[in-house]
Amino acid sequence: MLSYKAPLWLASLAVVVGTASATQKFGLYAYGENVGGLPLYYVDGSAVVSPKTPDNGTDVAPVAFNQNGDNGLVGNPNTTSTASTANFTNMSLFVPGPNSSDKEMGFTNDPSSNQVTNKFVWYGNFLLVENDSGEYTSLFSVKKSSTHSEDGSYDLYWNVTDSDEDVITISMRSVAPSNA
Ligand SMILES: *[C@@H]1O[C@H](CO)[C@@H](O)[C@H](O)[C@H]1NC(C)=O
Ligand SMILES: *[C@@H]1O[C@H](CO)[C@@H](O)[C@H](O)[C@H]1NC(C)=O
Ligand SMILES: *[C@@H]1O[C@H](CO)[C@@H](O)[C@H](O)[C@H]1NC(C)=O
Ligand SMILES: *[C@@H]1O[C@H](CO)[C@@H](O)[C@H](O)[C@H]1NC(C)=O
Ligand SMILES: *[C@@H]1O[C@H](CO)[C@@H](O)[C@H](O)[C@H]1NC(C)=O
Ligand SMILES: *[C@@H]1O[C@H](CO)[C@@H](O)[C@H](O)[C@H]1NC(C)=O
Ligand SMILES: *[C@@H]1O[C@H](CO)[C@@H](O)[C@H](O)[C@H]1NC(C)=O
Repeated sequence: MLSYKAPLWLASLAVVVGTASATQKFGLYAYGENVGGLPLYYVDGSAVVSPKTPDNGTDVAPVAFNQNGDNGLVGNPNTTSTASTANFTNMSLFVPGPNSSDKEMGFTNDPSSNQVTNKFVWYGNFLLVENDSGEYTSLFSVKKSSTHSEDGSYDLYWNVTDSDEDVITISMRSVAPSNA
């Protein structure tokens, strides 16, 4: 399995190669210490990674993404999956902007000034985000949610700077674990 430290040095490389084409659909998976490629779910607008379908929520589904021409990731329910019951269409994944005090990621169809939807880039199958200096960074992490504590799910965060022990650094990739 990949070390959770890998994206830090990968991100320092100058050459970034895109993989996702506009028509290709892909899922996103979180990899980190004790987080072995958990798929990304939409849960009532929140971005959650989980070993099984999160229990708490009305609109819940694993997400199939398209990359649009504006470096955005547009999500729809993965209709192939039996876990899919959600009623949402074309929801954009966002990371909180550099000045946002709320560090949780999520989905939106109308991004606020504190929600960045158009800076997603790739290093191979690693998802990165271009920062305000034009550098490609991976600042993803997960943390167990108090309201999802029993189903093994985690909320997805971006650019958490405080040293909270419950925060696990992860990388986001477009490939599922090979043993899934
Ligand atoms: C949708 O879900 C199915 C079943 O879990 C999976 O095999 C497939 O790769 C997923 N598709 C995308 C685009 O994520
Ligand atoms: C899905 O949401 C749309 C828009 O909010 C609504 O019109 C429609 O009735 C909903 N469909 C279901 C099956 O809930
Ligand atoms: C979702 O996006 C696709 C591709 O841009 C578009 O064809 C479709 O009409 C959109 N659906 C809705 C409900 O906005
Ligand atoms: C991360 O947060 C710091 C402030 O805590 C900010 O200066 C920086 O621009 C942020 N980076 C990104 C990529 O959001
Ligand atoms: C963040 O705040 C700084 C200082 O107030 C400002 O210069 C900058 O434009 C803000 N960036 C964004 C993306 O709002
Ligand atoms: C962008 O990322 C680089 C590398 O991590 C960092 O040195 C730089 O300060 C970041 N710029 C901003 C505006 O956050
Ligand atoms: C769902 O939320 C309720 C109330 O917050 C909580 O008691 C329950 O444990 C949660 N379920 C899961 C699976 O986390």
